[in-house]
Amino acid sequence: MSCGVNAFVAAPADAYGPGMLKDLWPIFGLSISTPRLELRVPTDDELVALAHNIVERRIHGTEIIPFLGQWALAEPDEVPMGVAQHHWGLRASWTAESWNVGFAVFLDGEPVGSQNLIAKDFATLRSVSSGSWLVSDLQGQGLGKEMRAAMLTLAFDHLGAVEALSSARLGNESSIRVSYAMGYEDNGQARESFGGQIGVDHRLRLTVERWQQHRPTYPIEIRGLDPCLPLFGI
Ligand SMILES: CC(C)(COP(=O)(O)OP(=O)(O)OC[C@H]1O[C@@H](n2cnc3c(N)ncnc32)[C@H](O)[C@@H]1OP(=O)(O)O)[C@@H](O)C(=O)NCCC(=O)NCCS
Repeated sequence: MSCGVNAFVAAPADAYGPGMLKDLWPIFGLSISTPRLELRVPTDDELVALAHNIVERRIHGTEIIPFLGQWALAEPDEVPMGVAQHHWGLRASWTAESWNVGFAVFLDGEPVGSQNLIAKDFATLRSVSSGSWLVSDLQGQGLGKEMRAAMLTLAFDHLGAVEALSSARLGNESSIRVSYAMGYEDNGQARESFGGQIGVDHRLRLTVERWQQHRPTYPIEIRGLDPCLPLFGI
């Protein structure tokens, strides 16, 4: 058959039914529900809404930067493209040996935060790490603990992780106390540049045994995991 343009026959529009994207990329069908939140990877339209919320509601101020980069302080017209490129990059670079689930955190259907679940060589090491943020006006209401618990439920109870690592800038009490609430223990410190500010990176580690002792008792439900398992390398 010729490979010229004339060989292309467009599929009829009705050949593309709902769910095609999650058939192609099962991670789009994965969701975690907690009493107040839903975690799932955002569609491109939802990335626009997420970026809008970062610009309008901000994540942190300029005095103490909690992240290694300054992306959340970028100019309002630069944030949306940066957010979109970050999420597209997570999809594009995914392999079974190295993956990063960029969950958006939805409250009442609106994307208001982010909860990542990250692993390298998970099939062998069974170790995950994470990162998270919420728009500033929703911080301090227990949502950070709920989204971390959602991520840990997926990692420990459904993927078979045996340890979860985290870190936060020393002084970032809300982040460190989210970790303590889940059972993480101190795991060392190191000097680090937080968006150009020198600070101390406080490292934390949670074992599966400690998770089982500290896990919250409220229901956390996971949907759409089975088709994703090969993508997680298990
Ligand atoms: C870190 C973050 C996700 C935590 O989520 P949150 O919803 O604000 O935290 P929660 O309300 O669940 O509170 C968690 C714990 O921190 C405590 N806490 C919350 N805000 C606090 C504050 N400003 N100072 C001290 N403690 C605080 C809570 O009392 C709770 O502790 P407890 O379990 O002992 O009662 C959120 O604050 C955030 O997005 N911060 C900016 C970005 C950031 O720092 N990300 C993490 C980078 S490592």
